[in-house]
Amino acid sequence: MVKFDFKTYMKNYDLSSYDEKIRQIEYKLNNDSDMLDWFRLKINEEELKSIIDTSNYIKNNADVFIVIGIGGSFLGAKSVIDALSPYFSKDLEIIFAGTSLSSSYLKELINYIKDKNVIINVISKSGTTLEPNIAFDVLYEELKKKYDESELQKRIIITTDETEGHLRELVNEHNYKSFIVPKNMGGRYSVLSPVGLLPISAAGIDIYKLLEGAKSVDIKNSFHYASLRNSLYNDGKIVESFTVYEEKLLYFTEWLKQLFGETEGKEGKGILPISLINTRDLHSLGQFLQEGNKIIFETVINVINSDDINLSKYPKSLNELNNIAVNKVALAHYEGETYSNIINIDSLTPYYIGYLIYFFEVAAATSAYLFDLYPFDQPGVSRYKELINEEIN
Ligand code: PA5
Repeated sequence: MVKFDFKTYMKNYDLSSYDEKIRQIEYKLNNDSDMLDWFRLKINEEELKSIIDTSNYIKNNADVFIVIGIGGSFLGAKSVIDALSPYFSKDLEIIFAGTSLSSSYLKELINYIKDKNVIINVISKSGTTLEPNIAFDVLYEELKKKYDESELQKRIIITTDETEGHLRELVNEHNYKSFIVPKNMGGRYSVLSPVGLLPISAAGIDIYKLLEGAKSVDIKNSFHYASLRNSLYNDGKIVESFTVYEEKLLYFTEWLKQLFGETEGKEGKGILPISLINTRDLHSLGQFLQEGNKIIFETVINVINSDDINLSKYPKSLNELNNIAVNKVALAHYEGETYSNIINIDSLTPYYIGYLIYFFEVAAATSAYLFDLYPFDQPGVSRYKELINEEIN
């Protein structure tokens, strides 16, 4: 069960003024074709089967699975894998690369994989992104030293555009295994496509359950949340903290920051997304939320049930204490004029993570439309690349 506690702790907002706009947005989501494949959760059975078969091959044949990608080609998979894998001892080691220009990271990675069985999945819709291109070039050269062409065909998997770009050319030239990033889907909305599903499945996570959760979302809740955050923004709350009380969700908050940051941070508008991992960050940014500038509201993701521990010195179990903290911190922050919306999920399972993904994707797109922005581009991202390119080309 997912329980929304959108009462923002006694400060109730009248959202009826959003009704007409939301009706128009719902119509647009249902009827526009532009970049909305994610909304229709378009993925066919044959593709899912190929993802499962490939992920089984990876599990049986790799010591280390390296996933290369950045932004939307990285964060979705990383966030789901972290959320749903054990903290310690994983069956398959999954390493992400191509997320920075750190030479020491790549150098150490090369040394680390020297005597290991490696399979690589490079993911880039455009095939032109600097960081994953460099990581792939460097690691591809290393693999070529270790494996012959027929072995490479079993160890290089490319996820990219169906017809365009140099990665697609590489697939055609060497007959590498490949998956398609749908044309009508932006990176940060692509976690429930082969972009995210292959690495997630390789981590041993049930992707059918993930999709089932996504399909079960009642989008009225996303509309309500999007209207509420817009109304908080109009009330001077221009920063949203995505707050979690389970460290496995750290990267889920990173994915949320990208989803909302790139979707609505345009034309001088948007709500700045930040994150808190509690209770750790109550001893850090918690001070600011309690007594600092009154520009923040919180969206809390609370996992109600987890593997629990009884505490001999306290009348409550550890998980009960964590749930008490969620509510008491919200109350404390309310007193400091930081209002909380709490989304309670029953437990950390593929179904609930799939649910949250789709819930937030609809909310992010809706939020951009409420600001009269186009949700599916990120024109600001290219500027730093242009400046680097002037220097290196
Ligand atoms: O959300 C997006 O579209 C971006 O964050 C992209 O995913 C990111 O820039 C990587 O692009 P590409 O997959 O083309 O390498």
